[in-house]
Amino acid sequence: MEQGAATGRLAGKRLILGVSGGIAAYKACDLASRLVKEQAVVTAVLTRAARRFVTPCSFQALTGRPCVTGMFHRIQSAFPHLDPVREADLVVIAPATANLMARLAAGLADDVLTALCLSARCPVVVCPAMNVRMWEHPATQRNARTLAGFGYRLFGPAAGALACGETGVGRMLEPSDIVEEICRSFAAPPAGARESAAHAGPGAKGRARRHGPARKRKAGPAGPNSPAGK
Ligand SMILES: Cc1cc2nc3c(=O)[nH]c(=O)nc-3n(C[C@H](O)[C@H](O)[C@H](O)COP(=O)(O)O)c2cc1C
Repeated sequence: MEQGAATGRLAGKRLILGVSGGIAAYKACDLASRLVKEQAVVTAVLTRAARRFVTPCSFQALTGRPCVTGMFHRIQSAFPHLDPVREADLVVIAPATANLMARLAAGLADDVLTALCLSARCPVVVCPAMNVRMWEHPATQRNARTLAGFGYRLFGPAAGALACGETGVGRMLEPSDIVEEICRSFAAPPAGARESAAHAGPGAKGRARRHGPARKRKAGPAGPNSPAGK
């Protein structure tokens, strides 16, 4: 969006931006900035490893909001593993490391970002970024399939030159492309309406969180999506 445009395409949307500890974490700053320019309300959540690459200060400055950095930093919220995601329209994790994907696939809640994803009832988008051999390892491929099975959407990774000097599939999608995908997802017909009709009845809310937005009041990205590059 050009600066000064009246309405961003993500106006009124509340996004959680999860950042894990890969070299592409620096690109998450650009992503945060672009999401804010589209008028999304962005709360950044950084893993411990992410904080070795980028600082909470950068995200606080770019988003204008406190950055969530730990489960036990109660100054930010009484329940930092639950509160930020309660009203979220989307969780986007960029970059998503091999380690984070494994933790998500295992259903772990061993840090604030994985715990938030477990408690999320909104769509979750994962943007993998890693070395090509890490990406091609059967464990990572299995984890990618598991996440897709949860209804998480995988954006990328792309092929190309990698920070480690190798070439192959593993590059995080460019922030501009991630923003376009997110905007397209919100513009798509609300999957939530279809999902909630299909899953109406007791327990529907719990299932819907794995397949798309449970709440009908807001549109969100469509449901399950196969991992890219497969
Ligand atoms: C310089 C450097 C770059 C790294 N880049 C990546 C990466 O791009 N992708 C990845 O999956 N892991 C990468 N790692 C390994 C992760 O930092 C490590 O697996 C870490 O435990 C991830 O933690 P998190 O997923 O909880 O953030 C890198 C490590 C170092 C030291």
